[in-house]
Amino acid sequence: MARTAPDSVSRVAIVGTGTIGASWCTYFLARGMAVAAYDPMAGAEARTRGFVERAWRDLEALGLVRDGAGPDALSFAASLEDAVAEAEFIQENGPEDQAKKGALFAAIDAACPPETIIASSTSALVMSPIQAHCARPERCVNAHPFNPPHLMPLVEVSGGDRTEDEAIAWTMKFYTAIGRVPVRLNREVYGHIANRLQYALYNEAVRIVLDGIANVADVDAAVRNGPGLRWGIQGPFLNYHLAGGEGGLERFYEIFEGRDKGNTDRVARQTLTDEQKRILADGIAEMLAGDDAFAELTARRDRRLVELLRLRARMEAGEL
Ligand SMILES: NC(=O)c1ccc[n+]([C@@H]2O[C@H](COP(=O)([O-])OP(=O)(O)OC[C@H]3O[C@@H](n4cnc5c(N)ncnc54)[C@H](O)[C@@H]3O)[C@@H](O)[C@H]2O)c1
Repeated sequence: MARTAPDSVSRVAIVGTGTIGASWCTYFLARGMAVAAYDPMAGAEARTRGFVERAWRDLEALGLVRDGAGPDALSFAASLEDAVAEAEFIQENGPEDQAKKGALFAAIDAACPPETIIASSTSALVMSPIQAHCARPERCVNAHPFNPPHLMPLVEVSGGDRTEDEAIAWTMKFYTAIGRVPVRLNREVYGHIANRLQYALYNEAVRIVLDGIANVADVDAAVRNGPGLRWGIQGPFLNYHLAGGEGGLERFYEIFEGRDKGNTDRVARQTLTDEQKRILADGIAEMLAGDDAFAELTARRDRRLVELLRLRARMEAGEL
């Protein structure tokens, strides 16, 4: 049978309903899909149903519950095979262990329809050694969410050596169709994108504390009140592009390169060749797609910062 169109999926399977699986159950149900779940742990069904009930109101508040959608469309299967037998998409959320994921993928692959995409939520494992256990490795992808996936929009999509481009393209369209924000990796790497970035920041935060430069509270305050606020609006590239003023990223390098060149500190900015700088500047131009007027970009950033700061004031007043 042909693969279901990515914007017409109505039956999904969730394998493993712990922290991540229960959250995915909630999201898929809210988007109007029937969810067949499987988890061998005693009490998994009651725990998952309890989670869905509690999380549902957050999705209602966000306007993400489709007409006619409801928690009743969740069924728990007695076996893995029953859960995946009719699935048009499968999200695997079992333990973070390569051997266990390999065995789980082999069992899913043998029991589900041959065209169905099998996606793993794995945080740091790569797909190639996992899909090696499957008869149809071409439909196996990594689709890494952020906790909790029913609220966090990001899904990082990558394939292994034997994943077909078509399977990755389908997966990107599927998550987009259900209101998530997928990003694509051109090759599989440990930690995908966002955890690599998080680890870089966290490793340095730890070093700052252990080297006696600042205490834990001040490091957290520095992130929350400085770059963390802006990161709610824009990523590191647009951020430094705007830091360069009208001249953008290229001018940003001109301004700071001299100062940074002789710096041997472990966090010193890397010195880049002209060609490398051009790759980054081209990437920013592609991302902005013509919406690149400096005055408008900074005005928009500031409008959004004002809204975030208002929200922060409500938090600090104890309202949230
Ligand atoms: N916790 C996070 O912040 C986070 C974020 C993103 C991705 N992930 C990834 O999601 C996956 C699940 O992580 P988690 O935090 O939900 O772990 P968890 O321990 O809460 O859940 C794992 C679940 O898998 C079940 N399980 C064990 N063997 C199984 C089997 N054979 N078949 C089906 N289910 C089985 C367990 O009973 C458990 O309920 C991991 O790969 C992890 O890397 C976790």
